[in-house]
Amino acid sequence: MKPAFLELDPEAVRVPVRFAGETLMLPEGANLAAALLAAGMTVLRHTPVSGAPRAPYCMMGACFDCFIEVEGTLRQACMMEVVEGLEIARPHEGDAHDTL
Ligand code: FES
Repeated sequence: MKPAFLELDPEAVRVPVRFAGETLMLPEGANLAAALLAAGMTVLRHTPVSGAPRAPYCMMGACFDCFIEVEGTLRQACMMEVVEGLEIARPHEGDAHDTL
């Protein structure tokens, strides 16, 4: 399926980023949340209580729906740029909601 989001510069230099165990080639220096959406990654995390899927929403650091885990630290993807070699995980993966 074609992603619902498009990149601003499809000719941008691509760098490898790991997201949830998958290697993605994302545009270097782009907003990380936008780049993940354009790559078709629409679920960045699940809520810790119900396990509901969440995607970036406000794109300005207010809603926290874009929480990701980068090298053990929770970060907001919309407040980061794509950098080569990022290792990103979905927070709370493997927590209680996975068994509901
Ligand atoms: S998308 Fe709302 S804080 Fe990042």
